[in-house]
Amino acid sequence: MPELAYVNGKISSIEMAMVPVEDRGYQFGDAVYEVIVSYSGRLFALEEHLERLEGSMCELDFPPISRETVRHSIQDLFKQADLPRAALYLQISRGVGPRNHAFPETRKLQVVMTVRKVDEKPAMLRREGTAAITLKDFRWGRCDIKTVQLLANVLAKQKATESGVDDAIFVAEDEVVREATSSNVFIVADGVVITHPLTQNILPGITRAVVIDLCKDVNLALEERFYYLKDLYSADEVFMTGTITEVLPLVKIDGQIIGDGKVGPVSKQLYGALHEKINNS
Ligand code: PDD
Repeated sequence: MPELAYVNGKISSIEMAMVPVEDRGYQFGDAVYEVIVSYSGRLFALEEHLERLEGSMCELDFPPISRETVRHSIQDLFKQADLPRAALYLQISRGVGPRNHAFPETRKLQVVMTVRKVDEKPAMLRREGTAAITLKDFRWGRCDIKTVQLLANVLAKQKATESGVDDAIFVAEDEVVREATSSNVFIVADGVVITHPLTQNILPGITRAVVIDLCKDVNLALEERFYYLKDLYSADEVFMTGTITEVLPLVKIDGQIIGDGKVGPVSKQLYGALHEKINNS
């Protein structure tokens, strides 16, 4: 059950996989990506990830690539790795060429993948909830495009780590709560589940969309609207969603206890509903 890499059709061990130094993803962050996980040997929400990938590429004027080709490459690599619980990372850059900010003449995209075992969140975090800090959102204005330009997210996550917490939540100048470094954020207030609407300031998370649908299925009131730092602190529950994160409760933010400091019923219900959906998909 090997962990494998793929570079433009060539499959090898991850250690042996190489990309050219003039790859635009490497030099300019001129690349898009997706992270897709499997449960019991099946990739979850593959079509949704392919759809978002196409959207990211289209927004950045990348030459088109057939969905069929990408799907086939993903499935083939995943099959060869034969890891039942895998995290597949896919990155497509605008290609390779002499360093020049303007788009290159070549329209040959560079497709890279790795497939590894999922780095699972510790069970204790899921049982007891976790902590985060908030930070001013200092990212660029197109966080809806899933690009590899993640330096702000990297610095924020490092700040969280150094502060002894699990994650950092970006908050806008006007105190609107955006999202965490690799997850969307939801709050529960007076029985209503609230999350930031889809704008250019957050990633349209696949898990976010699944959780919104699940709220409808289990009759939880759901609002996609702006909410503020004060709403985050005073919420009954706060949780993050993401492909690796799944539904992860936050019980302490900026040192302040959220609700009663324990994982709340809505977070538990949605985590259970998500796994039910995964098992039935
Ligand atoms: N991150 N917001 C940001 C900034 C993200 O990077 C991610 C995903 C999400 C959640 O999206 P989804 O539910 O589609 O995974 C929200 C991936 C997993 C990563 O960078 O590793």
